Amino acid sequence: MRKTLSVLLTAAMATSMLVACGSSSTQATTTAAAPAETKAAETQAATTAAPAETVAEVTEAAKAAEANGETITVGFAQVGHESDWRTASTNSVQSALSKENGIDLQFVDCDNDSAAQLEAVRNFIQQGVDYIVIDPIVSTGWDTVLTEADDAGIPVIVIDRTIDDSDKYVSWVGSEFTNEGLAAGAWLKAYVADKGISEVNALVISGTTGSSAQIGRSNGFDKYVEEEKWNKIDEQTGDFTQEGGQKVMESYLKSYEGKFNVVVCQNDNEAFGAIDAMKAAGVSYGVDGDVIVISFDACTAGLQKVLAGEINADFQCNPLQGPDCLNIIKKLEAGETVDQKTFMAEPWYVAEDKLKDIAYTNNSGKEVTEPLVVVDQAVVDAAY
Ligand code: AHR
Repeated sequence: MRKTLSVLLTAAMATSMLVACGSSSTQATTTAAAPAETKAAETQAATTAAPAETVAEVTEAAKAAEANGETITVGFAQVGHESDWRTASTNSVQSALSKENGIDLQFVDCDNDSAAQLEAVRNFIQQGVDYIVIDPIVSTGWDTVLTEADDAGIPVIVIDRTIDDSDKYVSWVGSEFTNEGLAAGAWLKAYVADKGISEVNALVISGTTGSSAQIGRSNGFDKYVEEEKWNKIDEQTGDFTQEGGQKVMESYLKSYEGKFNVVVCQNDNEAFGAIDAMKAAGVSYGVDGDVIVISFDACTAGLQKVLAGEINADFQCNPLQGPDCLNIIKKLEAGETVDQKTFMAEPWYVAEDKLKDIAYTNNSGKEVTEPLVVVDQAVVDAAY
């Protein structure tokens, strides 16, 4: 019965992907896992909903499976609730891994506590769930617990951030954080050249230390700091929160007021806090100000600030990984091969209609030229 359901769901996902191929909706790039000798292929995945009649068919099958006690049980160990991005991520996973789709989701908010996250995963193993989904707070310290999941025969799917010290998971879907940092550096280089700004004195408010989001964004931006010989005055963590961003900026203002002209906030919520602190101190920022504000995420509230000229550039991190996650589970249920890596597609947003695109060498060593999207109300309205 569970297999019947999985076949129907897989069909629904396939239909959904066919529908989406002709559209320009949110897309992700995937890297195929097998066979090993095959060159990693870049394909397009999509998140458009399946047609109504297919969904109805799936819902019926889900109901029947539930009645037979055959729903798929998934444990999800989420990072926490630190940002607008995180809320969107939780919503995306909860609506995709839903009862209607035949899934009983056990959700744990780990409140940015790595020990709590390991415990949550161990509890899922003890419960004997069918799948475990992890958004890892930090990128290391995972091999033991993933070995335990492996020994228990429970497939683990990793979303958003990466795990860097274990390969005992079946699939990962998330962002190329280093490219986000590189793109921010490439944009700043082009922007200051265009504005005739000869010196860059930058402050960085980084994300949770040891998370792959922080590591990638810092590494990417630092490449430009080195190459362009910019002065990075300081980098302190704001833990991806508004409160953290505000506190770090308040402390920066005590030490460096009048000495910096760029602040890089590693997510929108930190940028909101930093902006509040600069406002309170009478420091001008944004398009018409003395301090260039760079942010990451591009959530609705972030893009509103880009539209208002308070954030100069916002590099999207796409949290809508729920449908990809569902797709992976369905493929595994059907005994199919899954992609080892799926990269979310992520546009770069700017406040001013000056630079059309940025060119840089991405984290795969490829020369790329990527468009800059000038934010208008329609862009804000379409955001997550
Ligand atoms: O891992 C993704 C990052 O984590 C997002 O940039 C941030 O908002 C979140 O807290």
